[in-house]
Amino acid sequence: MPQNSRLEPTILVIFGAGGDLTWRKLLPALYNLLLDNHLPERLAIVGVARRKLEDGSFRAKIREGIDSFSRRQVEDEQLWNRFAENISYVSEDLTDSASGAALSGRLARIEEQWGVRANRVYYLAIPPTVMEPAAAMLKRLGVCRDCARDRLVVEKPFGRDLLSAQALNAFLNGMFVESQIYRIDHYLGKETVQNILAFRFANSLFEPVWNRSYIDHVQITVAETVGVEERGEYYDQAGALRDMVQNHLLQILCLVAMEPPINFEADEIRNKKVDVLHAIRPIKGEEIHRYAVRGQYRKGNVLGKAVPGYPEEKNVAPDSGTETYAAFKFHIDNWRWQGVPFYLRTGKRLPSKVSEVSIIFRSPPHQFFPSAAVENWQPNRIVIRIQPEEGIGTRIQVKQPGTRLLLGAADMQFLYREAFRAPAPEAYETLLLDVIRGDATLFMRGDQVESAWKVVMPILEAWESVPPADFPDYPAGSWGPETADQLTAREGHSWLQPAEQEEP
Ligand code: BG6
Repeated sequence: MPQNSRLEPTILVIFGAGGDLTWRKLLPALYNLLLDNHLPERLAIVGVARRKLEDGSFRAKIREGIDSFSRRQVEDEQLWNRFAENISYVSEDLTDSASGAALSGRLARIEEQWGVRANRVYYLAIPPTVMEPAAAMLKRLGVCRDCARDRLVVEKPFGRDLLSAQALNAFLNGMFVESQIYRIDHYLGKETVQNILAFRFANSLFEPVWNRSYIDHVQITVAETVGVEERGEYYDQAGALRDMVQNHLLQILCLVAMEPPINFEADEIRNKKVDVLHAIRPIKGEEIHRYAVRGQYRKGNVLGKAVPGYPEEKNVAPDSGTETYAAFKFHIDNWRWQGVPFYLRTGKRLPSKVSEVSIIFRSPPHQFFPSAAVENWQPNRIVIRIQPEEGIGTRIQVKQPGTRLLLGAADMQFLYREAFRAPAPEAYETLLLDVIRGDATLFMRGDQVESAWKVVMPILEAWESVPPADFPDYPAGSWGPETADQLTAREGHSWLQPAEQEEP
């Protein structure tokens, strides 16, 4: 099968090759890129982890991952064999300052066989504790020296607060140039998240009303039905604010609120997003309860199944004060958004897995219909559904059929599934291909990550200084703690509840 001959020969080195991300997401994404002929004609994948493992066992594990988690399984044995013969494994102990010989030997052998100096992508799918040793090893080996050809992908979490993020940035910038560093936030690779840019700026219909004169408020919901699964150890140290808000939710907020970019250059788009983060009004410690709400799930039922509470989860402290739910009201202090509340919420063990952005418009300035006609009047809204069932819906008011004048709401829906036959790529497919191509638009620049940390730091500090008194405080399978409703109710608003999922 011909692949993309315009892409340079590439070696992709994955640190953390034994981890879930590699198995469930990265290799399935690469396999799908192969099926769509997007990969460079010459691509070698080298897995790196501490454990000793034969190439054959690594390949077998990868295949199992593809068969279990990929949107398309292995059907063509010949194609799989050609893909697999370029996958290999080396064992390296990153904590050993003399490590690296096996990796540099492998890189040299591959390039010798190809007879070219390949582009090299180093994907750090590893915990924060070994991030610096891994980067230091690459520096020591001199294998990530070419600013144009060698790239480093850094997985989240990027630091655990502003100081550690600054320190990690300083460490990485001391070894590599910024344009080599690709900080990943997989939400930015999701089709519908990217579509926010197209929707806003490729249509002249919406941008004129996309401001405080027409928009009443904005809601961003990222709800999950899952609990902490096997990640209790990590999650109990992180919580929803660090795990979801500092990155995914704030990035979505930036796309919704940013000014129109001048061109499609990575830095231009990133500058516009950073402007939004800078304009978010800092939440002061003493008023935190009016702007931020946290919660933790207790046992309950999700999608018809009984599930344990957070304190009973594996590797979680029984008296844990970690939030599994977080909701906020942010204000953006600029001309476009002054006075428009942005409500954000995310949580685990909620009734449905759904991510969506709702733009709720103001009432018409003058309502001349008889009051009986507008009894069921509802504001216009645009709902951008990120997942599942990607699409965009608008709610308008129409006359209900009949001899009386009665207005009612009608929804217009655009569904990706119906409009386009081609299935959408997974976020990691888009992002991996972008790194291979050297396009950083969908990745986070160092100052962007730090600006996002600056937004959440006052909340983080306030929450850490006062332990929650009433955790766990919402039953699994509910829409979170009651205090989250008060957050919106104070301004006369209420959360829009996305349609709940059917029981499987
Ligand atoms: C990850 C978080 O970044 O995103 C997880 O660490 C979360 O806790 C996941 O479950 C959600 O991603 P998605 O793509 O399933 O919405």
